[in-house]
Amino acid sequence: MTQDGKKDLVTLVDSASGQKFELPIIPGTMGPKVLDIRSLYGQTGYFTYDPGYTSTGSCESKITYIDGDAGVLLHRGYPIDQLAEHSDYLEVCYLLLKGELPNANQKEKFEKDIRTHTMVHEQINAFYRGFRRDAHPMAVMCGVVGALSAFYHDSLDIADPHQRMIASHRLIAKMPTIAAWAYKYSRGEPFIFPRNSLPFAENFLHMMFATPCEEYKVNPVLARAMERILILHADHEQNASTSTVRLAGSSGANPFACIAAGIASLWGPAHGGANEAVLQMLTQIGSKERIPEFIARAKDKNDPFRLMGFGHRVYKNYDPRATVMQRTCHEVLDELGVRDEPLLELAMELERIALEDPYFVEKKLYPNVDFYSGIIFRAMGIPVSMFTVLFAVARTVGWVAQWNEMIGDPHQKIGRPRQLYTGATQRDFVPLHARG
Ligand code: SDX
Repeated sequence: MTQDGKKDLVTLVDSASGQKFELPIIPGTMGPKVLDIRSLYGQTGYFTYDPGYTSTGSCESKITYIDGDAGVLLHRGYPIDQLAEHSDYLEVCYLLLKGELPNANQKEKFEKDIRTHTMVHEQINAFYRGFRRDAHPMAVMCGVVGALSAFYHDSLDIADPHQRMIASHRLIAKMPTIAAWAYKYSRGEPFIFPRNSLPFAENFLHMMFATPCEEYKVNPVLARAMERILILHADHEQNASTSTVRLAGSSGANPFACIAAGIASLWGPAHGGANEAVLQMLTQIGSKERIPEFIARAKDKNDPFRLMGFGHRVYKNYDPRATVMQRTCHEVLDELGVRDEPLLELAMELERIALEDPYFVEKKLYPNVDFYSGIIFRAMGIPVSMFTVLFAVARTVGWVAQWNEMIGDPHQKIGRPRQLYTGATQRDFVPLHARG
């Protein structure tokens, strides 16, 4: 409503017919208002056109708010830097799923609920053996997570809130196990079972690096860094993979299939695959002396090369997660004493140059969350092919929270975008003998 009590709306005038159309404006609690175009086609016969959805809101959500210009990221109203500093991953999972931070009893029960689902059905073990040892672990993740829907028939009914909750807990709890086993399989090492006595991130690192032959103690600095990285990657509004999960879920597909679709979308180098692409780029650059050559290529419109780990669709200021990741990156490099490791030294020099270069400053192409996560994971001894897998482990709670919100949204319909058709107009079939 405007100050004088009138309904907030936008009037469109069709210059061809002179007709006027009114579209209501809907305000949110924060951020841009939206123009409600649900009646647009019915009123005007026009579709909207917005490839990449740069100006299109696909849903209403209460989970995450981003202000790209101000460099703000809130989860249920709480700033990401405060959560990364003071919370832990499972507490952030509770917040994203339920909307509030848990009290002590709620936190203890939620941690127990997740702990009871960390193992996978014993026959899932066999799925790994169907893959070559050199299979990309993201291919394994797509396959094994999708296969969960063949095992957990008691949590597939999306109309049942209890089954949705069980499926949500199963996905959050099992992703670290499935991910660590993908890594172990690629190395020909035996799978390490989850240890429910360990906190989430420490348990994951234990499954990644322990062996059955001896006790393995996770470095507490790395465990804390991993906990923080998981928090920073937990959710991010309607990004490509989350939108994929919502679109898959809008048809009524089961949660395991939807999350497998999200994993597939995250794999792309423009999205979650960027952390792996950062390390491949640094290897390609090879030395500080070659940085100017690649900066020039990144600026060249005729060269498809992009500086991986820089830029963001929404953040046209600094990615607030990158600020925390940068600090975490330096903590890990110092703890492991690998600051002068050539590739990591190269990364720091690239960051310095890009932050000073007028092209990147004018286009606000700051280092994003993927720039630093790749460097930290490499320093931790995690292979490049596992970087996006770790992103998927963290983002599962965001996908699951957004999927639950979508299922519970009374306005939700099956997602079915329209198009601008510019193909051939109608014509009659030409028999083979009559074709040129
Ligand atoms: C993630 O959506 C999310 O929230 C994603 C994510 C999440 O948490 O879910 O934050 C995770 O995906 C982070 C982004 C990781 N991707 C990369 O690091 C890949 C490299 N970045 C680019 O591909 C690009 O910046 C995107 C895809 C991230 C954003 O692309 P946009 O918004 O479509 O921007 P654009 O391509 O229109 O670029 C705007 C301008 C262009 O120049 P002009 O045509 O205007 O002259 O900036 C240039 C681009 O050429 N540009 C770059 C660049 N990114 C954009 N130039 C060089 N190097 C880059 N990395």
